[in-house]
Amino acid sequence: MEILKVEKLCKVYGTGEARVEALKHVSFSMQKGEFGAVVGVSGSGKSTLLNCIGGLDEADSGKVFLNGRNIFEMGENERTIFRRQNIGFIFQSFHLIPELTVEQNIIFPLLLDYRKPDQNRVEEILKVLGLANRRKHLPGQLSGGQQQRVAIGRALITRPALVLADEPTGNLDSQSSRDVMELLCKASRYYQQTVLMITHNMNLTVSADRVFCVADGELTELVSPSHAKDSGLSESQDGELAGFESQGGQDKEPAGIDGREKGGAAE
Ligand SMILES: Nc1ncnc2c1ncn2[C@@H]1O[C@H](COP(=O)(O)OP(=O)(O)O)[C@@H](O)[C@H]1O
Ligand SMILES: [Mg+2]
Repeated sequence: MEILKVEKLCKVYGTGEARVEALKHVSFSMQKGEFGAVVGVSGSGKSTLLNCIGGLDEADSGKVFLNGRNIFEMGENERTIFRRQNIGFIFQSFHLIPELTVEQNIIFPLLLDYRKPDQNRVEEILKVLGLANRRKHLPGQLSGGQQQRVAIGRALITRPALVLADEPTGNLDSQSSRDVMELLCKASRYYQQTVLMITHNMNLTVSADRVFCVADGELTELVSPSHAKDSGLSESQDGELAGFESQGGQDKEPAGIDGREKGGAAE
């Protein structure tokens, strides 16, 4: 079943000398349950692509169908509600509400629609994400990896048609990055959750079903992650792609058995 269809998406920023063609006739589609990774050097148009698909940014031309609905034909209010109910966003910088607990952050998208959370679903998500014993914590009392797991829970709670993740591991150490990838992968396998994720780390694309490369606003699909080298992207041993956005790379101590970084979160 086709969940996402992107047709000839174009986006230009600026004019004259500042003119940038951020997206050039991008077309692709995704089936239900597929896990897609998007790679490409900094400034190639990855975030623009996700933001246009998610209706956070307006494309200049082209179409985006989600579950058969063209999101650009909706009015602003309709699109806001449609987005909240059908798309789960995960950002590099978590975007949690600091005053709300872990559990409250996760159910927040439901509350905005006056929907009653399914407590079984909430419990399952807390358990799968390893957050059951952190449910009353505030984001500020959590490590980065734990905060991103809360953001994943918030993205999954509505059972959205599509999860869009823009460098979700960008601020995390390597162990937390692998945890996040594993959870997104689990979500795609167990819940048949369609996921489109930007990453700068080729190692993190190995569990993806499909890998797309964005270069200078154009999207191509790689036959397999190892073909990244053929696309002109060079890879170092830890999977960082040359020329890719630096993520700060602050590798911390590996996480303990319960997934918490040593010396990270406050109890
Ligand atoms: N709001 C904006 N105004 C002007 N130019 C932008 C804006 N957002 C992105 N761009 C430009 O569009 C291109 C693609 O940016 P982006 O999608 O953020 O790349 P990536 O996520 O791959 O690093 C870049 O050249 C960037 O400078
Ligand atoms: Mg980006």
